[in-house]
Amino acid sequence: MRGRYYSLFIIMVLFLEGCTPKNRVTIPTDYYSEPHRLQFHFSPEKNWMNDPNGMVYYEGEYHLFYQCYPDSNVWGPMHWGHAVSKDLVRWQHLPIALYPDNLGLIFSGSTVVDYKNTSGWGFPDNPAMIAIFTQHLMEGEKKGRHDFQTQSIAYSLDKGRTWKKYEHNPILKNVGKHDFRDPKVFWHDASNQWVMTVAVKDHIELYGSPNLKTWSQLSDFGYDIGAHGGVWECPDLFELKVSGTNKKKWILLISINPGGANGGSGTQYFIGQFDGNKFIPDTENSYWLDYGKDNYAGVTWSNITDGRRLFLGWMSNWQYATVVPTTAWRSAMTVPRTLELIETESGLRIASQPVNELTTLRVDSTSYDFAMKVDEIESEIIQLTTPQNEIDLNIERESIEGGFEIELSNKKDERIVIGLNEKNQLFIDRTQAGNEFSKDFVGIHTGIRTYLTSGIKLKLLIDASSIELFADDGTTVITELFFPMEPFNQLRFYSKKGITVKSMKTYSMKSIWH
Ligand code: FRU
Repeated sequence: MRGRYYSLFIIMVLFLEGCTPKNRVTIPTDYYSEPHRLQFHFSPEKNWMNDPNGMVYYEGEYHLFYQCYPDSNVWGPMHWGHAVSKDLVRWQHLPIALYPDNLGLIFSGSTVVDYKNTSGWGFPDNPAMIAIFTQHLMEGEKKGRHDFQTQSIAYSLDKGRTWKKYEHNPILKNVGKHDFRDPKVFWHDASNQWVMTVAVKDHIELYGSPNLKTWSQLSDFGYDIGAHGGVWECPDLFELKVSGTNKKKWILLISINPGGANGGSGTQYFIGQFDGNKFIPDTENSYWLDYGKDNYAGVTWSNITDGRRLFLGWMSNWQYATVVPTTAWRSAMTVPRTLELIETESGLRIASQPVNELTTLRVDSTSYDFAMKVDEIESEIIQLTTPQNEIDLNIERESIEGGFEIELSNKKDERIVIGLNEKNQLFIDRTQAGNEFSKDFVGIHTGIRTYLTSGIKLKLLIDASSIELFADDGTTVITELFFPMEPFNQLRFYSKKGITVKSMKTYSMKSIWH
């Protein structure tokens, strides 16, 4: 008998052993669980991160490279960190892609897939991925020279896992331009060439190339139009269809620091035409892609095959990025967003929306609708069950001059307030959001609406330390960080002149890291 039980035991052990995946990685239970750690946004496992770089889709993978300093939680010698995702939502960290070398640190840039093998580095069944980036030579900067930023390239034949730098780098030398960086490259079919936009202090330069290795200047843009409160960085030029029509327009995104909509870093865009040589804006006005203080250096993915234009920004601001109260890691990205061009009451505007894939994180939903009469002032408190939420709202105001506030708070009396003021401006108020580590962090940050309607639709994405507000189909966006002592889990409405919350849906959101 004993012998039979023993062999049964051995068989079971062998069976269970066989069921255990050999390479299973056990995720520690405290992984991505530090205070303020974002649960459905990309952030590096540890240490410093800034701009998203080289975003490209290839063979079923969305690549995200990013500015990182792997040895510290503040900015330092820049490398390209690397992560991939199959759905833009869940990310897999990969080893560092590009390291500094004798030409300098690896600053921001882009990646393309060279399907026509213009570079000669690819094969018919294996086109080269080519990264184009700025190299920043610290020694040159220290010596007071003005030519320390140049553009270089590297290629990969194994889906971005390993990279070989071009032996004749830099491919674009510097002729004395103190700020000369962040090349964004795309293939322009109509003029049969690669086109690069580069930020040069107070303007953008456009270059053309047959093979990504030799470049000549096509034109420049923007010396005296648009916002000029700071240095221009991280340009991106791409075409968008005007929704519901067959018309197409070219968009030029330009990040600016300082001089953003509410101070510090921000991103403006122009709408116009590109003829293969010059970008010609329709008007001299630029618009803010995001009015919040925490969306900077964002650019779009190249080689997206489903027709979408996908954007990602760095969710911080150079005014305080290095002192935000996190230690294990510093900074996260916005959620990936789809950009569309739509006709609004104020004219053509970019509409940003979180990518649809994010809805796969919804775990449960609760619906509300209620009316608050004039002078009722405040609603009941709505308890949120998790710190990560998506909230969709459709609100009708009793009077066009009436504002309202949505307060997110915790038991420690910390709060962040999202609302519409009497001037028809949207705002996020983080004056009482806790943790005042920088005077530039505290404040009420407003965004202009593109509509005058009394009704308004809002989408809020709330993570452990960030809120993204998409109003009026995403034509007014405000992205802001916050660092409370405890998660915000209470929600309450305020309104003096009366509102009807025609619908409100709250979804709690799963973590992408557990
Ligand atoms: C924007 C930026 C870029 C530069 C990079 C350096 O945030 O200043 O212009 O390439 O960061 O990390």
